[in-house]
Amino acid sequence: MHPKLHLSPNKNWCNDPVGFIYYQGQYHLFYQYFPYGCTWGTMHWYHAVSKDLVHWQNLGIALYPSKYYDANGCFSGSSIEVDGKMYIYYTSVKYLQPNPENIHKTLNDAFEASQSMLISEDGIHFDNINQKRLIIPAFKENEIGHPTHTRDPKVWFYNGKYYMVIVSKYFDEHNHGQGQLLFYTSDDAINWSYQNNYRGVQLGDMWECPDIFTVNQQQLLIMSPERTETHGYPSHTRITTCYFNHENCTMSQLGELRFLDYGRDLYAPQTTLDQDGNRIFVGWMRMPVKDQGDWRGLFTMPRIIEYHDNHIYTDVHPNIKNQFIVDTQQFDYQKPTMIHVCLKHGDSINIGGYVLTYQDCLLANRENVFIDCDEDVDLICQTPPIDYCELDIYIDQYIIETYVNHGYYVLSHIVYHLDNTIQCNCKYEIKTVK
Ligand code: FRU
Repeated sequence: MHPKLHLSPNKNWCNDPVGFIYYQGQYHLFYQYFPYGCTWGTMHWYHAVSKDLVHWQNLGIALYPSKYYDANGCFSGSSIEVDGKMYIYYTSVKYLQPNPENIHKTLNDAFEASQSMLISEDGIHFDNINQKRLIIPAFKENEIGHPTHTRDPKVWFYNGKYYMVIVSKYFDEHNHGQGQLLFYTSDDAINWSYQNNYRGVQLGDMWECPDIFTVNQQQLLIMSPERTETHGYPSHTRITTCYFNHENCTMSQLGELRFLDYGRDLYAPQTTLDQDGNRIFVGWMRMPVKDQGDWRGLFTMPRIIEYHDNHIYTDVHPNIKNQFIVDTQQFDYQKPTMIHVCLKHGDSINIGGYVLTYQDCLLANRENVFIDCDEDVDLICQTPPIDYCELDIYIDQYIIETYVNHGYYVLSHIVYHLDNTIQCNCKYEIKTVK
């Protein structure tokens, strides 16, 4: 019951995609993984590879706790290629107060977070004993960052130098937790020195998984601020234009921090460059209930980020689009399916119980294709207003990704138990894969 074109773990829990890189002829995508069950716990990095961004192979655990400083987890991070080797950066976690009843959790948020790296010679072997090193020790109280809430190193190369952004919490003059970015640079990608921070906006109390990159000459920032919402999931991923000055590591001119995906399930995405130099990303789809089998969580299909006409577009990667070449009249949600439809004002399409309606914006209602869960999940979501409504809807078992007006907006949802019917007054096309 695994989706076919979406990466998911064979077994157990997954969250954030990490270390995403095109390296030595294939894509490597790692993910946060708990090997002992379908809940979050001591974090490992699981390793998956793909030649085409469409078909993924789960290989096994790459990073696991092996040092005093990462004894309780290898949290999120990124990879780059240096002199033919894969350099992996991650947040190393050491619990100060493990929960005596469950050593995979800490009590009272009492843990220390430092930043570490592992050098892999070939991107296939990961020597967790001899090739790890601590690069930024956990902060002490009142240093530039928070001893506990500092994490998610994203590293890139620019003009002869290496840059790293990490997120950290700080307390403002009212003692409210706020998010900040910390910038480091390095000449050799091993020894890092702190340069500057960015505290220019207030949104939530901690920003997770930052990512800074350039698309069509425009710099963009993705981050996942925590605790910004009072209903549904409390934390969501945002994207915005920005200006980052590499000379002095100053960040400024942030635009509107809009949702990267309006379905509100996507979280903690990571970008990289594809084989052709396009900026692409994969996001984690939070899956509140394990429904069938012994796995939980999955990843979006890779999307290309583009910037034109003052707008950030995120359309599905062409490698995925090109798979859907078989015309069909029959809808079977267990087979990857693409529906193309143009809705007029007031029109709806009902796909196996999942209803999309165009009314100024695109409205998605999954009330009939969801199951009871303990988490507060948004069942009805919408995009901002749109002028017309042309949809590419991709269905793959537990996930529906709807690309609105060629990636102008995207709205993706986890769904449970679709049926194999489609109702719509307008003409639509259905395609599936070979
Ligand atoms: C985001 C996140 C990261 C952290 C990781 C731990 O979902 O909380 O900030 O590194 O997950 O699994």
